[in-house]
Amino acid sequence: MKKAYRASLLRFDAAGLPVFDEDGLLVVAPDSTGRQRVLDAGSHADVSQRHAGAHTTHLPGRILAPGFVDMHVHYPQTDIIGAPAAGLLPWLENYTFPAESRFADPAHSRVVADVFFDELLRNGVTTSLTFATSHVASVDAFFESAQRRQLRMITGKVLQDRNSPDGVRDDTEQSLVDTEALIRKWHNVDRLGYAITPRFAPTSTDAQMRGAGELAAKYGDTWIQSHVAENRDEVKWARELYPKSRSYLDVYADFGLLRERAVYAHCIYLDDTDRALMHETRTAAAVSPTSNLFLGSGFFDFGAADRLEQPYGLASDVGGGTSFSPFHTMLAAYYVGREGQTKTGLSIAPSRLWWHHTGGAARSLGLDGVVGNLQPGCEADFLVLNPSATPLLARKTSLANNLEELLFAMIVLGDDRLVERTVISQAG
Ligand code: GUN
Ligand code: ZN
Repeated sequence: MKKAYRASLLRFDAAGLPVFDEDGLLVVAPDSTGRQRVLDAGSHADVSQRHAGAHTTHLPGRILAPGFVDMHVHYPQTDIIGAPAAGLLPWLENYTFPAESRFADPAHSRVVADVFFDELLRNGVTTSLTFATSHVASVDAFFESAQRRQLRMITGKVLQDRNSPDGVRDDTEQSLVDTEALIRKWHNVDRLGYAITPRFAPTSTDAQMRGAGELAAKYGDTWIQSHVAENRDEVKWARELYPKSRSYLDVYADFGLLRERAVYAHCIYLDDTDRALMHETRTAAAVSPTSNLFLGSGFFDFGAADRLEQPYGLASDVGGGTSFSPFHTMLAAYYVGREGQTKTGLSIAPSRLWWHHTGGAARSLGLDGVVGNLQPGCEADFLVLNPSATPLLARKTSLANNLEELLFAMIVLGDDRLVERTVISQAG
């Protein structure tokens, strides 16, 4: 049955520019398979004429917006948000690997997966490209919970067969057998997708990297996710372990791990040759500013990425990242974007930040027109935002003179309180 929602409505056009209807109407209806999709969207004056009689929910003072897309997050690190460390490598050793070793236990995996999805949805994140751990049980728990909730979600078993402690280190042969079995079990089931997941080059042997590349070629519509060039000590280590590659990014290229639907977190210490290679291979960066600031990793170069048309989108990188809230991530991206913009003194426009966490992120994941937007045909994952959720938000958003000021007020002051409701596309 057709359903309509009347409120202000935020969407993006094909160029990623915002389209805002103060008095908008969003019409959703099941497609031929029963999946709820956007049927029509625009101003109430226009759209209501085409759908006379549709049952309409009126939401005065609210804003309908696309569900956010988080391009890189670790669900097993939910419990270690805010763990202090001198930098990435001691943080991995002292907090991350011990926490991840607990995911050998399916019951623990299920508990944390449920906490994770509750947090994502409270914060308005409806799709994420997600690290599990090296344990098969962690992947099954994630997909089972996502499937129950009818979410569009992506994860994969972490591959790490060296330089990793007991409890998280896997076996080369078995890790590849397990990965293929999980692809066959879960990839493209309902709205679930599999990501081939070498943790990062320093914790995989050549043989494991080669195997990952072979699976990526065999299953061409799976995702690939890893980390690259996040931290100076990590870059030095990777260069020592792979002396033949031109750069750290080239290690992945040399194993066939750069392609559309490949996503690399951080991408801070790249050069222009690397960025051009990401553009050519349509490999995306997951920019994780709260993590980079928290771990003291460095600053993503938005200017260089735009100049070389390197695909990218925003990500929380919890638990290196400090918040599940896309508003916090967008604000941190704004701060980081000020670096290198000293000539104009301007940082990234609020609507651009929003795009990079919705439609732009979806495009970087190869999910353009599927999620992250509210144009006709998109799956109906959307948010009801309440710009009056707190006294200060109410005051500040009511003073906005234009869309950019309105979006910026929400980015600067917003958190999970702004997300009144997260609506998930239902099937059948
Ligand atoms: N590099 C390798 N593993 C990780 C991880 O879990 N988090 C971050 N931020 N970087 C990594
Ligand atoms: Zn990460």
